[in-house]
Amino acid sequence: MAFPVHRLRRLRRTENIRRLVRETSLAPDDFIYPIFVTGANDVRRPLKALPGLDLLSGKPLAEEARELKSLGVPATLIFPVLEEGDKDAKAALAYSADGPAQRAMRTLRDAAPGLILIADLCLCEYTLDGHCGLIRDGEIDNDLTLEYIQKSAVSFAQAGADIIAPSAMMDGMVQAIRSGLDAAGYSSVLTMSYSAKFCSGLYGPFKAATNSAPSESKHATHQVDVGNARQAMTEIRLDIEEGADMVIVKPALGYLDIVARALQEFEIPIAAYNVSGEYNMVLQAAGGDADYRARLMFETLTCIKRAGADMIITYFAKDASRALA
Ligand code: PBG
Ligand code: ZN
Repeated sequence: MAFPVHRLRRLRRTENIRRLVRETSLAPDDFIYPIFVTGANDVRRPLKALPGLDLLSGKPLAEEARELKSLGVPATLIFPVLEEGDKDAKAALAYSADGPAQRAMRTLRDAAPGLILIADLCLCEYTLDGHCGLIRDGEIDNDLTLEYIQKSAVSFAQAGADIIAPSAMMDGMVQAIRSGLDAAGYSSVLTMSYSAKFCSGLYGPFKAATNSAPSESKHATHQVDVGNARQAMTEIRLDIEEGADMVIVKPALGYLDIVARALQEFEIPIAAYNVSGEYNMVLQAAGGDADYRARLMFETLTCIKRAGADMIITYFAKDASRALA
Protein backbone atom coordinates (compact mmCIF):
# COMPACT_ATOMS: atom_id res chain seq x y z
CA MET A 1 0.00 0.00 0.00
CA ALA A 2 2.63 2.50 -0.94
CA PHE A 3 2.67 5.79 -2.80
CA PRO A 4 2.79 6.46 -5.75
CA VAL A 5 0.93 3.27 -6.78
CA HIS A 6 -1.75 3.89 -4.20
CA ARG A 7 -3.49 7.24 -4.10
CA LEU A 8 -6.54 7.29 -1.84
CA ARG A 9 -7.56 10.69 -3.18
CA ARG A 10 -8.75 8.87 -6.33
CA LEU A 11 -11.58 7.50 -4.19
CA ARG A 12 -12.64 11.01 -3.21
CA ARG A 13 -12.37 12.77 -6.55
CA THR A 14 -16.06 13.29 -7.38
CA GLU A 15 -19.26 13.34 -5.41
CA ASN A 16 -20.50 10.21 -7.19
CA ILE A 17 -17.34 8.26 -6.36
CA ARG A 18 -17.68 9.39 -2.76
CA ARG A 19 -21.31 8.24 -2.80
CA LEU A 20 -20.35 4.82 -4.19
CA VAL A 21 -17.71 4.12 -1.58
CA ARG A 22 -19.49 5.64 1.39
CA GLU A 23 -19.81 3.01 4.14
CA THR A 24 -22.43 4.78 6.22
CA SER A 25 -25.43 6.75 5.06
CA LEU A 26 -28.53 7.90 6.84
CA ALA A 27 -32.21 7.24 6.18
CA PRO A 28 -35.43 8.11 8.02
CA ASP A 29 -35.51 4.38 8.96
CA ASP A 30 -32.74 5.10 11.45
CA PHE A 31 -34.60 7.64 13.53
CA ILE A 32 -36.78 7.67 16.61
CA TYR A 33 -38.37 11.05 17.36
CA PRO A 34 -39.06 12.03 21.00
CA ILE A 35 -42.34 13.80 21.68
CA PHE A 36 -43.49 15.59 24.81
CA VAL A 37 -47.11 15.23 25.80
CA THR A 38 -49.44 16.86 28.32
CA GLY A 39 -52.76 15.78 29.76
CA ALA A 40 -54.40 19.14 28.93
CA ASN A 41 -56.63 19.34 25.85
CA ASP A 42 -55.38 20.26 22.34
CA VAL A 43 -52.06 21.86 23.19
CA ARG A 44 -49.21 22.97 20.92
CA ARG A 45 -46.79 25.09 22.91
CA PRO A 46 -43.06 25.59 22.18
CA LEU A 47 -40.64 24.03 24.67
CA LYS A 48 -38.14 26.78 25.50
CA ALA A 49 -35.45 24.33 26.57
CA LEU A 50 -35.65 22.40 23.27
CA PRO A 51 -35.97 24.89 20.40
CA GLY A 52 -38.04 23.47 17.53
CA LEU A 53 -40.00 21.07 19.72
CA ASP A 54 -43.51 21.58 21.10
CA LEU A 55 -45.47 20.26 24.02
CA LEU A 56 -48.43 18.44 22.47
CA SER A 57 -51.81 16.86 23.09
CA GLY A 58 -55.08 16.15 21.32
CA LYS A 59 -55.47 17.42 17.74
CA PRO A 60 -51.97 18.95 17.41
CA LEU A 61 -50.52 15.65 18.68
CA ALA A 62 -52.51 13.78 16.04
CA GLU A 63 -51.15 16.18 13.38
CA GLU A 64 -47.62 15.53 14.60
CA ALA A 65 -48.14 11.78 14.30
CA ARG A 66 -49.35 12.12 10.71
CA GLU A 67 -46.35 14.33 9.91
CA LEU A 68 -43.94 11.71 11.28
CA LYS A 69 -45.63 9.06 9.20
CA SER A 70 -45.44 11.14 6.04
CA LEU A 71 -41.73 11.81 6.66
CA GLY A 72 -41.12 8.08 6.99
CA VAL A 73 -39.99 8.20 10.62
CA PRO A 74 -40.87 4.74 11.96
CA ALA A 75 -41.08 5.41 15.68
CA THR A 76 -41.75 7.97 18.37
CA LEU A 77 -40.60 7.98 22.00
CA ILE A 78 -43.22 9.42 24.32
CA PHE A 79 -42.42 11.61 27.33
CA PRO A 80 -45.08 12.94 29.70
CA VAL A 81 -44.91 16.45 31.10
CA LEU A 82 -46.94 16.89 34.28
CA GLU A 83 -48.30 19.97 36.01
CA GLU A 84 -47.03 20.21 39.60
CA GLY A 85 -50.56 19.51 40.87
CA ASP A 86 -50.69 16.18 39.00
CA LYS A 87 -47.57 14.77 40.66
CA ASP A 88 -47.70 12.69 43.79
CA ALA A 89 -45.48 10.65 46.08
CA LYS A 90 -46.49 7.34 44.46
CA ALA A 91 -46.33 8.49 40.81
CA ALA A 92 -50.02 7.61 40.34
CA LEU A 93 -50.38 8.86 36.75
CA ALA A 94 -47.59 6.53 35.66
CA TYR A 95 -50.04 3.63 35.98
CA SER A 96 -53.43 5.25 35.44
CA ALA A 97 -55.34 4.99 32.16
CA ASP A 98 -55.81 8.78 32.50
CA GLY A 99 -52.09 9.53 32.62
CA PRO A 100 -50.85 11.94 29.94
CA ALA A 101 -48.66 9.27 28.30
CA GLN A 102 -51.53 6.78 28.14
CA ARG A 103 -53.90 9.39 26.70
CA ALA A 104 -51.28 10.39 24.14
CA MET A 105 -50.79 6.79 23.07
CA ARG A 106 -54.48 6.38 22.36
CA THR A 107 -54.45 9.59 20.31
CA LEU A 108 -51.34 8.52 18.39
CA ARG A 109 -52.68 5.04 17.76
CA ASP A 110 -55.84 6.43 16.16
CA ALA A 111 -54.09 9.19 14.19
CA ALA A 112 -51.21 7.18 12.75
CA PRO A 113 -51.74 3.42 12.82
CA GLY A 114 -48.45 1.62 12.39
CA LEU A 115 -46.30 4.39 13.86
CA ILE A 116 -44.26 2.57 16.53
CA LEU A 117 -45.09 3.91 19.98
CA ILE A 118 -42.24 3.67 22.44
CA ALA A 119 -43.16 4.53 26.01
CA ASP A 120 -40.31 5.97 28.05
CA LEU A 121 -40.76 4.63 31.54
CA CYS A 122 -39.34 6.45 34.54
CA LEU A 123 -40.98 7.83 37.66
CA CYS A 124 -39.14 11.18 37.77
CA GLU A 125 -41.74 12.93 35.62
CA TYR A 126 -44.45 11.84 38.08
CA THR A 127 -42.92 12.08 41.56
CA LEU A 128 -43.09 15.23 43.70
CA ASP A 129 -39.36 15.14 44.44
CA GLY A 130 -38.36 14.32 40.83
CA HIS A 131 -36.49 11.15 41.77
CA CYS A 132 -36.51 8.23 39.33
CA GLY A 133 -37.71 5.84 42.02
CA LEU A 134 -39.67 5.87 45.26
CA ILE A 135 -37.88 6.94 48.43
CA ARG A 136 -37.68 4.89 51.63
CA ASP A 137 -35.47 6.00 54.53
CA GLY A 138 -34.00 8.78 52.43
CA GLU A 139 -32.80 6.50 49.62
CA ILE A 140 -34.29 5.33 46.34
CA ASP A 141 -35.68 1.89 47.17
CA ASN A 142 -34.84 -0.31 44.18
CA ASP A 143 -37.22 -3.21 44.74
CA LEU A 144 -40.16 -1.07 45.83
CA THR A 145 -39.65 1.00 42.67
CA LEU A 146 -39.78 -2.15 40.53
CA GLU A 147 -43.39 -2.79 41.59
CA TYR A 148 -44.41 0.64 40.28
CA ILE A 149 -42.38 0.35 37.11
CA GLN A 150 -44.07 -2.98 36.43
CA LYS A 151 -47.56 -1.51 36.92
CA SER A 152 -46.68 1.41 34.66
CA ALA A 153 -45.42 -0.89 31.90
CA VAL A 154 -48.68 -2.83 31.87
CA SER A 155 -50.67 0.41 31.85
CA PHE A 156 -48.67 1.65 28.84
CA ALA A 157 -49.22 -1.65 27.03
CA GLN A 158 -52.95 -1.37 27.67
CA ALA A 159 -52.87 2.13 26.18
CA GLY A 160 -51.24 0.81 22.99
CA ALA A 161 -47.47 1.00 23.51
CA ASP A 162 -45.51 -1.23 21.14
CA ILE A 163 -42.28 -0.93 23.08
CA ILE A 164 -41.57 -0.15 26.75
CA ALA A 165 -38.32 1.74 27.33
CA PRO A 166 -37.39 1.74 31.02
CA SER A 167 -34.96 4.55 31.84
CA ALA A 168 -34.80 4.47 35.65
CA MET A 169 -31.61 2.36 35.83
CA MET A 170 -33.05 0.23 38.64
CA ASP A 171 -31.55 -3.25 38.98
CA GLY A 172 -33.97 -5.87 37.70
CA MET A 173 -36.26 -3.43 35.89
CA VAL A 174 -36.32 -5.36 32.62
CA GLN A 175 -37.20 -8.60 34.38
CA ALA A 176 -39.98 -6.87 36.36
CA ILE A 177 -41.41 -5.38 33.16
CA ARG A 178 -41.06 -8.56 31.07
CA SER A 179 -42.79 -10.70 33.70
CA GLY A 180 -45.52 -8.10 34.24
CA LEU A 181 -46.21 -7.80 30.52
CA ASP A 182 -46.22 -11.56 29.99
CA ALA A 183 -48.56 -12.16 32.91
CA ALA A 184 -50.98 -9.53 31.56
CA GLY A 185 -51.02 -11.10 28.09
CA TYR A 186 -48.62 -8.65 26.40
CA SER A 187 -45.89 -11.07 25.40
CA SER A 188 -45.56 -9.36 22.01
CA VAL A 189 -44.79 -5.93 23.50
CA LEU A 190 -41.05 -5.30 23.28
CA THR A 191 -38.66 -3.88 25.84
CA MET A 192 -35.94 -1.46 24.86
CA SER A 193 -33.85 -0.80 27.92
CA TYR A 194 -31.78 2.25 28.68
CA SER A 195 -29.09 -0.21 29.77
CA ALA A 196 -26.06 2.01 29.47
CA LYS A 197 -27.41 5.30 30.72
CA PHE A 198 -24.60 7.44 32.06
CA CYS A 199 -24.75 10.03 34.82
CA SER A 200 -24.41 12.90 32.34
CA GLY A 201 -24.87 16.64 32.60
CA LEU A 202 -26.23 16.63 29.06
CA TYR A 203 -29.81 15.86 30.14
CA GLY A 204 -30.24 19.42 31.46
CA PRO A 205 -32.52 20.83 28.72
CA PHE A 206 -34.68 17.68 28.89
CA LYS A 207 -35.09 18.02 32.65
CA ALA A 208 -36.20 21.63 32.15
CA ALA A 209 -38.56 20.71 29.30
CA THR A 210 -40.23 17.93 31.28
CA ASN A 211 -40.35 19.87 34.53
CA SER A 212 -38.71 16.88 36.25
CA ALA A 213 -35.42 18.13 37.68
CA PRO A 214 -35.03 16.85 41.25
CA SER A 215 -34.19 19.49 43.87
CA GLU A 216 -31.30 17.31 44.98
CA SER A 217 -30.07 14.81 42.38
CA LYS A 218 -29.63 11.15 43.31
CA HIS A 219 -28.83 10.12 39.74
CA ALA A 220 -25.29 9.10 40.66
CA THR A 221 -26.77 6.29 42.77
CA HIS A 222 -28.32 4.59 39.75
CA GLN A 223 -26.89 5.92 36.48
CA VAL A 224 -23.53 4.57 35.25
CA ASP A 225 -20.48 6.61 36.25
CA VAL A 226 -19.09 8.51 33.27
CA GLY A 227 -15.69 6.81 33.64
CA ASN A 228 -16.96 3.24 33.37
CA ALA A 229 -17.07 1.28 30.11
CA ARG A 230 -16.81 -2.30 31.39
CA GLN A 231 -19.65 -1.71 33.84
CA ALA A 232 -21.79 -0.45 30.98
CA MET A 233 -21.18 -3.80 29.23
CA THR A 234 -22.31 -5.63 32.38
CA GLU A 235 -25.48 -3.53 32.46
CA ILE A 236 -26.22 -4.46 28.85
CA ARG A 237 -25.49 -8.15 29.44
CA LEU A 238 -27.79 -8.29 32.47
CA ASP A 239 -30.61 -6.55 30.61
CA ILE A 240 -30.31 -8.99 27.73
CA GLU A 241 -30.44 -11.88 30.22
CA GLU A 242 -33.57 -10.33 31.73
CA GLY A 243 -35.21 -10.34 28.32
CA ALA A 244 -34.45 -6.94 26.74
CA ASP A 245 -35.14 -6.96 22.99
CA MET A 246 -33.03 -3.87 22.33
CA VAL A 247 -30.71 -1.67 24.36
CA ILE A 248 -29.94 2.03 24.47
CA VAL A 249 -26.63 3.81 25.01
CA LYS A 250 -27.11 7.35 26.32
CA PRO A 251 -25.81 10.00 25.70
CA ALA A 252 -24.41 9.32 22.22
CA LEU A 253 -21.56 11.55 21.10
CA GLY A 254 -19.09 11.22 23.96
CA TYR A 255 -20.11 7.58 24.33
CA LEU A 256 -19.48 6.13 20.90
CA ASP A 257 -16.78 3.88 22.34
CA ILE A 258 -19.60 2.26 24.32
CA VAL A 259 -21.72 1.86 21.17
CA ALA A 260 -18.82 0.36 19.22
CA ARG A 261 -17.95 -2.01 22.03
CA ALA A 262 -21.57 -3.11 22.53
CA LEU A 263 -21.77 -3.88 18.80
CA GLN A 264 -18.76 -6.20 19.16
CA GLU A 265 -19.97 -7.91 22.33
CA PHE A 266 -23.70 -8.34 21.74
CA GLU A 267 -26.05 -9.31 18.95
CA ILE A 268 -29.25 -7.45 19.79
CA PRO A 269 -30.19 -4.09 18.20
CA ILE A 270 -28.54 -1.03 19.69
CA ALA A 271 -30.02 2.44 19.89
CA ALA A 272 -28.00 5.54 20.71
CA TYR A 273 -29.71 8.53 22.31
CA ASN A 274 -28.49 11.85 20.93
CA VAL A 275 -29.66 13.72 24.05
CA SER A 276 -31.02 17.19 24.67
CA GLY A 277 -27.68 18.74 25.64
CA GLU A 278 -26.08 17.37 22.46
CA TYR A 279 -28.95 18.78 20.38
CA ASN A 280 -28.57 22.17 22.00
CA MET A 281 -24.81 22.18 21.45
CA VAL A 282 -25.39 21.88 17.70
CA LEU A 283 -28.00 24.64 17.74
CA GLN A 284 -25.71 26.90 19.75
CA ALA A 285 -22.72 26.26 17.52
CA ALA A 286 -24.72 26.99 14.37
CA GLY A 287 -26.37 30.14 15.70
CA GLY A 288 -28.92 31.14 13.07
CA ASP A 289 -26.99 29.60 10.16
CA ALA A 290 -29.33 26.92 8.75
CA ASP A 291 -26.76 25.39 6.37
CA TYR A 292 -24.15 25.08 9.08
CA ARG A 293 -26.72 23.61 11.42
CA ALA A 294 -27.70 20.98 8.82
CA ARG A 295 -24.06 20.12 8.26
CA LEU A 296 -23.42 19.60 11.97
CA MET A 297 -26.64 17.61 12.27
CA PHE A 298 -25.68 15.20 9.47
CA GLU A 299 -22.11 14.89 10.71
CA THR A 300 -23.14 13.96 14.23
CA LEU A 301 -25.88 11.55 13.12
CA THR A 302 -23.55 9.86 10.62
CA CYS A 303 -20.86 9.42 13.29
CA ILE A 304 -23.37 7.81 15.67
CA LYS A 305 -24.44 5.35 12.99
CA ARG A 306 -20.85 4.66 11.90
CA ALA A 307 -19.98 3.72 15.49
CA GLY A 308 -22.57 0.96 15.28
CA ALA A 309 -25.98 2.27 16.32
CA ASP A 310 -28.87 0.56 14.54
CA MET A 311 -31.20 3.37 15.60
CA ILE A 312 -30.75 6.95 16.74
CA ILE A 313 -33.12 8.64 19.14
CA THR A 314 -32.83 12.25 18.06
CA TYR A 315 -34.61 15.60 18.22
CA PHE A 316 -33.33 16.06 14.65
CA ALA A 317 -35.42 13.16 13.32
CA LYS A 318 -37.91 15.36 11.47
CA ASP A 319 -35.35 17.86 10.13
CA ALA A 320 -33.01 15.10 8.97
CA SER A 321 -35.80 13.08 7.35
CA ARG A 322 -37.09 16.16 5.54
CA ALA A 323 -33.61 16.96 4.25
CA LEU A 324 -33.07 13.37 3.12
CA ALA A 325 -36.36 13.19 1.19
C1 PBG B 1 -35.78 9.73 32.16
C2 PBG B 1 -35.11 10.28 30.95
C3 PBG B 1 -34.21 11.34 30.88
C4 PBG B 1 -33.88 11.49 29.53
C5 PBG B 1 -34.60 10.54 28.82
N1 PBG B 1 -35.34 9.79 29.72
C6 PBG B 1 -33.72 12.21 31.94
C7 PBG B 1 -32.85 11.66 33.00
O1 PBG B 1 -32.49 10.49 32.98
O2 PBG B 1 -32.49 12.38 33.92
C8 PBG B 1 -32.95 12.51 28.97
C9 PBG B 1 -33.08 12.74 27.51
C10 PBG B 1 -32.37 13.94 27.00
O3 PBG B 1 -31.62 14.63 27.70
O4 PBG B 1 -32.58 14.24 25.80
N2 PBG B 1 -37.16 9.92 32.11
ZN1 ZN C 1 -35.88 9.33 35.73
